[in-house]
Amino acid sequence: MLFDPRPKESRRELFDREKELKILEEFVEKGSPIILCLGVRRIGKTSLLKTFLNESGYPYIFINARKLSEYGYSIAGLYRVFSEAIAQTNVFNRIIDYLKGLRGVNITVSGVGFGIEFNWRKREPSITSILERLDHYAKDRETYFLVTIDEAQELRFLKGFNKIDFREIMAYSYDNLRNIKFILSGSEIGLLYDFLEFNNYSSPLYGRVRDELIIERFSKEESIRFLEKGFEEAGMKPSKEVIEKAVDLLDGIPGWLSFYGYKAVQMKNFDIIDKVLEEAIQTALDELNKIIKTGKYYRHILRAIAMGYKNWSLIKRSVETWTGSHVNNKILYNNLVRLINLTILSKEDDRYDFIDNIYREAAKRI
Ligand SMILES: Nc1ncnc2c1ncn2[C@@H]1O[C@H](COP(=O)(O)OP(=O)(O)O)[C@@H](O)[C@H]1O
Ligand SMILES: [Mg+2]
Repeated sequence: MLFDPRPKESRRELFDREKELKILEEFVEKGSPIILCLGVRRIGKTSLLKTFLNESGYPYIFINARKLSEYGYSIAGLYRVFSEAIAQTNVFNRIIDYLKGLRGVNITVSGVGFGIEFNWRKREPSITSILERLDHYAKDRETYFLVTIDEAQELRFLKGFNKIDFREIMAYSYDNLRNIKFILSGSEIGLLYDFLEFNNYSSPLYGRVRDELIIERFSKEESIRFLEKGFEEAGMKPSKEVIEKAVDLLDGIPGWLSFYGYKAVQMKNFDIIDKVLEEAIQTALDELNKIIKTGKYYRHILRAIAMGYKNWSLIKRSVETWTGSHVNNKILYNNLVRLINLTILSKEDDRYDFIDNIYREAAKRI
């Protein structure tokens, strides 16, 4: 179902994105060992990756790095997330043979089948030695093993005293493991770059080549077809006006479009776009509120831009008026950079603006 609110996992459920699937395949076959898959929230990154992994036939593990937060970004957490991903992989039964000789690996048996555990206290086996085995596996089969990490910007929290710098692992793999490829994805594009630091001489990944796929929103025509097709699947036929209104308001972001479709089908009513918009704005507002808590100017900056004050001096003047005090240029600049890094704002020709209309609307309410 096109309007299923979860990330899609197969071509049958995924609308279009044929070009993107093909590009990913080319990157894997001919490109760099590091592939980045980028785009704003709800554009369909997770759906694209899961579909690609399921359809392309490469051996892979899929990790959602947000899971690391549950374990306080600890080493135990990293090992846990790895062992879960390996246990769930499409080729688990075959890679067991490659992993079981490693010190610290424990193959477990339960009602649901086999599992795998690592002795994280002793850091055995090391993450790189696990990757070495996966590389062997792929080499023996003349294929690539895809280590896929969604929300990869979260890996930056692993850094620090007595922790693991995941970039070191990637750099080692890049240099030595010919049949391993990393696919990293994330909405917070700037944060991902800040973490990977390809341009910083002291970064383990300095100067490494990467391939980049940027996922764009649907065009107006694609959005219309998306809604028409989804409603057709559900046996409903909305009028042209209904579709056009939704498409205008939801701005080509698949996540919002499918959310509208899902609600309309569920309530058997098309006339709910305002309600859906309201829910979407609330969701965005929740996210903005989290950001606002981290600094005293964010609220004013976001509001100023939402109200149309988009260049530096207008933003600065608004913030100063609303806070009633002088604002330090450097702090204001850093705040704007952070909002760009979080993929909330973009900057073009010295004008700052929201990337997603829904976030602009949400910001008017903060
Ligand atoms: N190409 C697509 N076809 C159908 N549904 C999609 C497509 N892209 C995204 N969606 C839907 O939009 C929502 C957000 O997609 P998701 O893959 O989670 O985005 P992201 O990972 O970029 O935040 C999900 O409900 C998903 O089912
Ligand atoms: Mg996602």
